[in-house]
Amino acid sequence: MANFKSSNLLFFTPFLLFWLSWLASASTSVPHDFIPCLLENSHPSHPISPAIFTPNNSSFPSVLQSYIRNLRFNTSSTRKPFLIITALHESHIQAAIVCARNLNLQMKIRSGGHDYEGVSYVAEVPFFILDMFNLRKIEVDIENETAWVQTGATLGEVYYNIAHKSKVHGYPAGVCPTVGVGGHISGGGYGNMMRKYGLTVDNVDDALIIDVNGRLLDRKAMGDDLFWAIRGGGGASFAVVLSYKIKLVRVPENVTVFSVQRTLEQNASCIASRWQQVADKLDNGVFIRLVMDVKNDTKTGGKTGRATFNGFFLGDSDRLVSILGKSFPELGLKKSDCNQTSWVQSILFWTNIPLGTNDDVLLSRTPTVNYLKRKSDYVKKPISKKGLERIWGRMKELDGPLMLTFNPYGGRMAEIPSTATPFPHRAGNLAKIQYAINWNEAGDDVANYYIGLTRKLYAYMTPFVSKNPREAFFNYKDLDLGINHNGKGSYFEGRAYGVKYFKGNFNRLVKIKTRVDPGNFFRNEQSIPVLPRHPRFG
Ligand SMILES: Cc1cc2nc3c(=O)[nH]c(=O)nc-3n(C[C@H](O)[C@H](O)[C@H](O)COP(=O)(O)OP(=O)(O)OC[C@H]3O[C@@H](n4cnc5c(N)ncnc54)[C@H](O)[C@@H]3O)c2cc1C
Ligand SMILES: *[C@@H]1O[C@H](CO)[C@@H](O)[C@H](O)[C@H]1NC(C)=O
Ligand SMILES: *[C@@H]1O[C@H](CO)[C@@H](O)[C@H](O)[C@H]1NC(C)=O
Ligand SMILES: *[C@@H]1O[C@H](CO)[C@@H](O)[C@H](O)[C@H]1NC(C)=O
Ligand SMILES: *[C@@H]1O[C@H](CO)[C@@H](O)[C@H](O)[C@H]1NC(C)=O
Ligand SMILES: *[C@@H]1O[C@H](CO)[C@@H](O)[C@H](O)[C@H]1NC(C)=O
Ligand SMILES: *[C@@H]1O[C@H](CO)[C@@H](O)[C@H](O)[C@H]1NC(C)=O
Ligand SMILES: *[C@@H]1O[C@H](CO)[C@@H](O)[C@H](O)[C@H]1NC(C)=O
Ligand SMILES: *[C@@H]1O[C@H](CO)[C@@H](O)[C@H](O)[C@H]1NC(C)=O
Repeated sequence: MANFKSSNLLFFTPFLLFWLSWLASASTSVPHDFIPCLLENSHPSHPISPAIFTPNNSSFPSVLQSYIRNLRFNTSSTRKPFLIITALHESHIQAAIVCARNLNLQMKIRSGGHDYEGVSYVAEVPFFILDMFNLRKIEVDIENETAWVQTGATLGEVYYNIAHKSKVHGYPAGVCPTVGVGGHISGGGYGNMMRKYGLTVDNVDDALIIDVNGRLLDRKAMGDDLFWAIRGGGGASFAVVLSYKIKLVRVPENVTVFSVQRTLEQNASCIASRWQQVADKLDNGVFIRLVMDVKNDTKTGGKTGRATFNGFFLGDSDRLVSILGKSFPELGLKKSDCNQTSWVQSILFWTNIPLGTNDDVLLSRTPTVNYLKRKSDYVKKPISKKGLERIWGRMKELDGPLMLTFNPYGGRMAEIPSTATPFPHRAGNLAKIQYAINWNEAGDDVANYYIGLTRKLYAYMTPFVSKNPREAFFNYKDLDLGINHNGKGSYFEGRAYGVKYFKGNFNRLVKIKTRVDPGNFFRNEQSIPVLPRHPRFG
């Protein structure tokens, strides 16, 4: 442009304007045949038009924003979908798939919108969203200890519905009540009962999906491979999951929770070091999460390292105090540190809602949202006390609101074979680390600064965590691990992050993907790639 003489510029201006406006509309206008196709393919008794939102509809921005759970992707420059389908009936999903596939459109599937990288509602290319929030029926069957849950439901809704039918049943899923069933279960979600009962995907009995041909399939009809893949391999690479049949687990009428903190001056590094010796070996009913961060020291005016131990136990507080008194006396847990409460109330405690708040707070769909970045790692060998002190030292240097959350493994997690589901991180893992940073200020520079802090800490952690591959948890989506350009990149780009998330199970996921969706319709930045058509790959 800089080389153009003014006469040339004058000459080109009309053309340039035309071209610019075309570009702008290309990212927002609805592909010509899409809406007619949707109308034509929808069921007469379930009209689809009330579920179609284009930028022309005045409520389009609020529908889009309702399930944005990371403010990094709520900016004016974030690419917007050209359309949102808020499916009201399974036939709307079928129409969306059939029409989008024929017109070669990029579809994003969103349930609870908690994807850390916004993969369910952001894309590099023009796209539309299939939004599942209206499909959130929950049918609990206590007699058979199961429930059918539609993927648009939140975990809080699932817990509330179980607890209101039985005081002695629960489900081993995540502790944040607004997380969606669709992403959480299909990505291998976990919660604080994992050492006793394994992951969500270890407690799934059946599912209903809509496949790439628009067919509604149950477990039997989809076959063992596809049923295996949608239990941890990420639904969005394979199908739209409409519902899961989950297996409820037994919980006592009272469980016990606690949260105790120790600073470095209060022996935090010794206690955290001991935690690594015991946390994966304790009674399976005990789950103690360790959070490392840095806090202001009111006494010295400086900063100090802090260890927070958040505990959950499937039993009463006397027994917990006795178990820990024997196996982990360094923590010094007292009965007065503990709260004995129902399982459903323990969820509130774990998500920082005061105990005693009415259970129906679990039905709220409007969490506080901020800007965030997450990463993950796996710990195979205990980190020495010196090592922990160095990590706290590095966190002090980095001087940001960083948190490292260690979730203990062992127990049931170590008994389930690593090939039973796509989730591969079983025996041999002491803990998983989540790197977390939240902030509240808009702007790319600010975001790059905070994201940079997590990357620096991640680099510093290299000697302490798994290697070859450096493993990661798929539900802690991290695009730093590589992207494959909305599924259009190479198989090898997909392999880079795929092996970190799935280890040896990646190959089976690729084979299943290649068979059930050879055209790669179900794709996103970190989807499972199809095998390249090359003799080498047979
Ligand atoms: C506050 C918070 C707390 C969390 N706590 C935990 C925790 O305790 N344990 C844990 O394991 N994880 C936790 N996570 C991570 C969470 O499990 C994942 O982000 C999960 O994928 C979110 O599911 P969703 O439906 O809300 O997300 P979405 O953003 O809607 O979807 C996530 C991914 O799944 C795909 N997907 C969604 N619905 C479907 C469907 N119906 N069919 C096919 N594909 C679908 C999307 O396309 C996207 O790729 C937490 C996340 C947040 C933000
Ligand atoms: C949104 O507008 C389109 C036409 O632009 C219309 O077909 C659709 O029904 C509207 N959606 C809603 C929910 O009103
Ligand atoms: C949106 O509105 C514009 C003008 O108001 C119209 O040209 C366009 O066809 C509408 N798009 C849809 C999808 O209804
Ligand atoms: C997202 O952005 C819109 C438009 O700037 C704003 O109105 C809305 O409050 C934002 N959402 C949140 C949760 O802050
Ligand atoms: C329990 O399962 C059986 C067999 O699937 C079924 O016949 C029965 O109706 C179920 N019980 C309830 C309460 O739905
Ligand atoms: C549950 O705990 C409460 C409070 O500690 C106690 O009053 C109640 O008796 C306990 N119930 C059972 C069944 O143990
Ligand atoms: C710190 O912990 C170690 C071992 O875990 C213990 O020997 C020591 O007495 C503790 N010190 C204090 C001040 O609690
Ligand atoms: C800690 O102290 C610094 C100034 O030394 C201040 O900016 C920061 O807000 C404090 N953090 C907390 C959590 O109080
Ligand atoms: C939780 O336990 C603490 C310490 O025993 C006690 O003071 C507090 O009242 C308990 N809270 C509830 C809601 O039971």
